[in-house]
Amino acid sequence: MAIRRVVAGNWKMHHGPSEAARFFEALGTVPDGPRVVVFPPIASLAAAVRAADGVELGVQNIHPAESGAFTGETSAAMALEAGARLALIGHSERRHVFGETDADVAAKIRRALETGLEPCVCVGETLEERRAGRLEEVLERQVLAALDALPTDASFLLAYEPVWAIGTGETATPADASQAHALLRERLRARHGDLAGRVPILYGGSVKPGNAADLMNADEVDGVLVGGASLQAESFRAIIDAA
Ligand code: PGA
Repeated sequence: MAIRRVVAGNWKMHHGPSEAARFFEALGTVPDGPRVVVFPPIASLAAAVRAADGVELGVQNIHPAESGAFTGETSAAMALEAGARLALIGHSERRHVFGETDADVAAKIRRALETGLEPCVCVGETLEERRAGRLEEVLERQVLAALDALPTDASFLLAYEPVWAIGTGETATPADASQAHALLRERLRARHGDLAGRVPILYGGSVKPGNAADLMNADEVDGVLVGGASLQAESFRAIIDAA
């Protein structure tokens, strides 16, 4: 069975509650077809839950602990209760700006699954790593660490987001994306067998209405994770229509 396409938007630290409500009002009802997901900032989750129509919602981060003295953090259970159904885990900004390790990513995946949130796990190499010919090694390390925390019956998404393509206007070519996705799929198959044919692998990094269709039509690409272009309803809608 073919994997259902996914169009996901990561708002990062943009759009407070009123902006979130305006966004979903402008977006309207999304058409049947692709699975559409938005990751608003936690402060806008409640407003998004009220306003979204046909869009699944997720959080951009969770803490691995169940609860406790972790000022400023959000637990998976709270996120679920507040209306999130997915959790973005291991986004490159979490890894590179906040110093999250593969072990942190694995711990968050375990907590998400235990709580009932579907993880969307991000992996990707930096420009330095790519130039040094370390693409395969880095992706393999990141994905295997994540798979250690993902049982073979888990439901989850993977996102390949080359760090050099995030927010830079620099996009991987459809061929670059296919190559990386094929590697991820292959590791997934080696570890998890048939599940590999059911896990959506999204491409992320400067996806725009103008390149979304080509990227989504590339081999092994099942959808997109969109940052900047997910902030305006019009451009996000155009990407959904391209799916
Ligand atoms: P971008 O961000 O589309 O703005 O490059 C993608 C992401 O960080 O998920």
